[in-house]
Amino acid sequence: MRICRRAEELTPFFGGEFVPTMGALHEGHLALVRRAKRERGITVVSIFVNPTQFGPGEDFEDYPRREEQDLRLLEKEEVDAVFLPRKEEVYPEDFATTVRVDRRLTGVLCGKYRPGHFDGVTTVVARLFGLVKPKRAYFGWKDAQQLIVVKKMVEDLALGIEIVPVETVREADGLALSSRNAYLDAEQRRRAAGIFRALSAGRGLAERGSCRAGDLLRRVREFLERDDLSPQYLELRTVKNLEEIRSDSVLEAAPDGEELLLATAVPLGKARLIDNLRFRAKIIRRTPAFEGERK
Ligand code: PAJ
Repeated sequence: MRICRRAEELTPFFGGEFVPTMGALHEGHLALVRRAKRERGITVVSIFVNPTQFGPGEDFEDYPRREEQDLRLLEKEEVDAVFLPRKEEVYPEDFATTVRVDRRLTGVLCGKYRPGHFDGVTTVVARLFGLVKPKRAYFGWKDAQQLIVVKKMVEDLALGIEIVPVETVREADGLALSSRNAYLDAEQRRRAAGIFRALSAGRGLAERGSCRAGDLLRRVREFLERDDLSPQYLELRTVKNLEEIRSDSVLEAAPDGEELLLATAVPLGKARLIDNLRFRAKIIRRTPAFEGERK
């Protein structure tokens, strides 16, 4: 396994499978790596805690950094190259570009509470794509909005990179793996499992037949309250373009229906945990505004 700290060293690894990460690797990241390895191309993993996607007062300084352990894990997975750049390698002194996807995708959900976050993500991912020149890149559903935004960027800029989504990896009690789970104490960790229980209860309601979006969201909130969790946001949107499903819409379970994203962010102690579930439903009544737009 080659450890590349400079962009020039990446040349032999162009055209392969790419897994961008911020390190402190766990089984979620490794699921992406294993999915990439299945393609049998050269696999490159990057580890870079990207300062531009952290807002003032967020956890950039505290973000876990475990380089040695990460390298051991990647070695075991038989990754071909790890890109471990210094900040100057990714952002040279005269770096002057920001890549920004439309606010309809980046100003909602997490974007509403982390202004500029997705600009930081798309800018670093575009830059990393330029340095690594992959054929395919792997992103987790855990960060559904990020996946959707990056896909849109690649499509709009015709970057010609296939974005491969990978299902969320969870602990036995349902908590989605995240480097930030390390911030939780034992009691918070126990309550954190309530997020998945709550989202599952909501999805369960939709899958049982027909329900109003508002009732589904209320049910999820009730579940969250049982564990004393109060979400920063809890929303139901389309996967396709993150259009909001209004509370008065009726959802009918249908395998060929529209793919919906039930997404939440829950502050818990020092952590801010995000999670989501997807399901398909036919939307019987949408808002007048939406109907107008579709004409
Ligand atoms: P990071 O949080 O390290 O995540 C790297 C990748 O791992 C992302 O695609 C994320 O969705 C995926 N991932 C994290 N936890 C997962 C889980 N439990 N199951 C499945 N996949 C999981 O996301 C970033 O880094 C950064 O924003 C980055 C894209 C690297 C740009 O800086």
